[in-house]
Amino acid sequence: MEEERIISPNLEGSSEERMENSLRPKTLDEYIGQNKVKENMKIYIESAKKRNEPLDHCLLYGPPGLGKTTLASIIANEMHSNIKITSGPAIEKPGDLAGLLTNLSEFDVLFIDEIHRLSKSVEEILYPALEDFTLDIVIGKGPSSRSIRLDLPKFTLIGATTKAGSLTTPLRDRFGIIHRLELYSIEDLSTIIKRSSKILEVNIDEEAAKEIARRSRGTPRIANRLLKRVRDYAVVLGDGDIDLKIAKHALNSLEIDELGLDEIDRKLLETMIVQYGGRAVGIEALAATVGEEIDTIEDVYEPYLIQIGFIARTLRGRKVLPPAYKHLGYEYLGE
Ligand code: ADE
Repeated sequence: MEEERIISPNLEGSSEERMENSLRPKTLDEYIGQNKVKENMKIYIESAKKRNEPLDHCLLYGPPGLGKTTLASIIANEMHSNIKITSGPAIEKPGDLAGLLTNLSEFDVLFIDEIHRLSKSVEEILYPALEDFTLDIVIGKGPSSRSIRLDLPKFTLIGATTKAGSLTTPLRDRFGIIHRLELYSIEDLSTIIKRSSKILEVNIDEEAAKEIARRSRGTPRIANRLLKRVRDYAVVLGDGDIDLKIAKHALNSLEIDELGLDEIDRKLLETMIVQYGGRAVGIEALAATVGEEIDTIEDVYEPYLIQIGFIARTLRGRKVLPPAYKHLGYEYLGE
């Protein structure tokens, strides 16, 4: 049974990933939000096409579920080229990367998700590939070994990461285009929900779309997930149409509160308020207390809690802020 948590990272190969694919926009004009990234990419793509050159290598970073893979597919589509999708941990040995690179065609897009997780030996193969489109292969071992240089087709690497800070400097320096994806506004999420509803052939009214948007923590992937769950309630309890009443009922049943916080968010905040008395707390201690991975807290939970002003990162650790006390019904007693 595949676990489908509301606020979890990508679920590769799952039914939900298939759903996500059907909802994915195919062109920049269909892609909602991230306006700055979109406007810039339009120019770079048009220029590359006019010059008949591949697009510069791109790095996309930001929290999970904001559409990094979607954007990479759109870029390939707009360049009229093919995309090959892989991930940092999937490329185990230099030979794996050599295989991928030598199978590319001119102008192809190679998408590497979680690019911060490439091993050092793999990264070193990547440098000359990115810089000069060449591949250095060592043949044999010991004193008789020699190196040969192969020319690769001109391609575009699109790297994605939730942790731009974990990228090595030489790798980061080889990307000509670097964009951070931001959490989405409620208006943009609402537009995405209405677009997805159309594709899924569900009727949804404006207020209901807004309600789901408000509880999607700035993340289209969560918005689409919630839409699917709310649809289930609408089908079983009503005529299949989604209005505000059914949306609220469904979301409350899912224990997603008015701000989109789930059980783990609440546990995190309560731990900081009750157990640590509002003092700064280290991420390791926090992770151990709530029983979640440090990476999950940092990449999945924290960005939204920081965005809504519930926690702050300080030099001494994470601090819970007054609005979080109010939201959870605790009295704020000051510093
Ligand atoms: N579905 C998921 N993300 C989207 C986006 N940014 N625009 C349109 N549809 C989406």
